[in-house]
Amino acid sequence: MAFRKDFLWGAASAAYQLEGGYRADGKGLNIWDVFTNCHSAGIKKFVRYNETGNEACDHYHRYKEDIALMKKMGLKNYRFSINWTRVLPDGIGKVNEQGIKFYSDLVDELIKNGITPLVTLFHWDYPYELYKKGGWLNPESSDWFAEYAAVVVDALSDRVSYWMTVNEPQVFIGLGFYAGNHAPFLKLHSCDLLQMTHNVLLAHGKAVKVIREKAKLSPRVGFAFATACCSPLDNSKEETEAAYKRSFDFDCGNYLFSPGWWADPIFFGKYNEKGYEIFGNDMPHINEGDMEIISLPVDFYGVNVYDAKSIMTIDGYPEGTYTGMPRTSMNWAVTPETLYWTPRFLYERYGVPIMITENGLANNDWVSLDGKVHDPQRTDFIERYLKELRRAASDGVDILGYLHWSVMDNFEWADGYDRRFGLIYVDYRTQERTIKDSAFRYKEIMESNGERL
Ligand code: NOJ
Repeated sequence: MAFRKDFLWGAASAAYQLEGGYRADGKGLNIWDVFTNCHSAGIKKFVRYNETGNEACDHYHRYKEDIALMKKMGLKNYRFSINWTRVLPDGIGKVNEQGIKFYSDLVDELIKNGITPLVTLFHWDYPYELYKKGGWLNPESSDWFAEYAAVVVDALSDRVSYWMTVNEPQVFIGLGFYAGNHAPFLKLHSCDLLQMTHNVLLAHGKAVKVIREKAKLSPRVGFAFATACCSPLDNSKEETEAAYKRSFDFDCGNYLFSPGWWADPIFFGKYNEKGYEIFGNDMPHINEGDMEIISLPVDFYGVNVYDAKSIMTIDGYPEGTYTGMPRTSMNWAVTPETLYWTPRFLYERYGVPIMITENGLANNDWVSLDGKVHDPQRTDFIERYLKELRRAASDGVDILGYLHWSVMDNFEWADGYDRRFGLIYVDYRTQERTIKDSAFRYKEIMESNGERL
């Protein structure tokens, strides 16, 4: 048997993408709330069809129904995030007890249904009030995050033991502040971006400290990073070494998406030397003690894996891809072997257990005439990717779990509701849910701990 006996099988979601209830019960506004609703000068086209997360899947009001479906689907673990301004409407200061109650009730309901809650503290819904004070660029931003973490840990750590500090800083900085197609839709320069990455790493470290100091149940702490590794283009030893190197390397154009930029400071206590060569004086300002906080030990490396990282070639096709290759409806290449190489390379370099905190695909699903959702592509995708993950586990990579993205269709950020990633189909007109065929196949796989693959 390849997967460990206590392997965590489950699915994941994020608050802004499914909760809705954007002004319910004293919740404050975050940058996605504000900018997706801001129609200034009629020029807005931030999100496809100008959609917002105001209602999303209305999970805020329907979480009991949703958890009943999760139970039916055989999910044993559920990763969700806390909406920061639901619990602290201004980001810091006054606590909203109704917000706390929502998450506390959610956790109780999960446990009652035999599902273990795994909590992400920050999945992109940054408080607007803090954004106005400079957000992640403000030198106090990591303390704000620590204050928020403490509130959540106080409220939930008697029942929650798995914690992820931040989700995909690569993406919320890369797309939010560099490419400008995620909230707050800005395009900043590297000197600011580099400082921001440092402040986020510091926020991560301070949250790790808070969790370790305050948690009631013995905590398992990590993060959920983006960015898969490169897969070797052939089986040779040389190419495997080259793929490893390409995975962690970066230059001034792609550092935001390199695990080498983000994870080296956490695991090695210093920035990758290459950073000093490339960025010189633009490297972040580091205060005394920062690197010690950033490098506080974590229990696992959480990684969201969709497709292999690949480097552009002069032919126009990134390495490892080819004309007409299978692609999901995000247009992402179907590259199952990335679920072998990514955990393997990350484990080799950083030496902590790996958790696949997200993996999945967007597909053009709809409800068939028979009332069911037939999604053979998703079933095939899950099988192909999980076989590769099992191969990594058999080869000795310590893999803690696999959380499918996503538990249900939801708001796919700049792509709105058009991209369906769920194991559950959502009709947004009626909020009716339908469990997709793939979820039943995934159930069999989970029940057999990956034997029936
Ligand atoms: C990773 C992000 O964490 C999640 O929010 C997003 O929906 C998926 N990727 C798919 O793009």
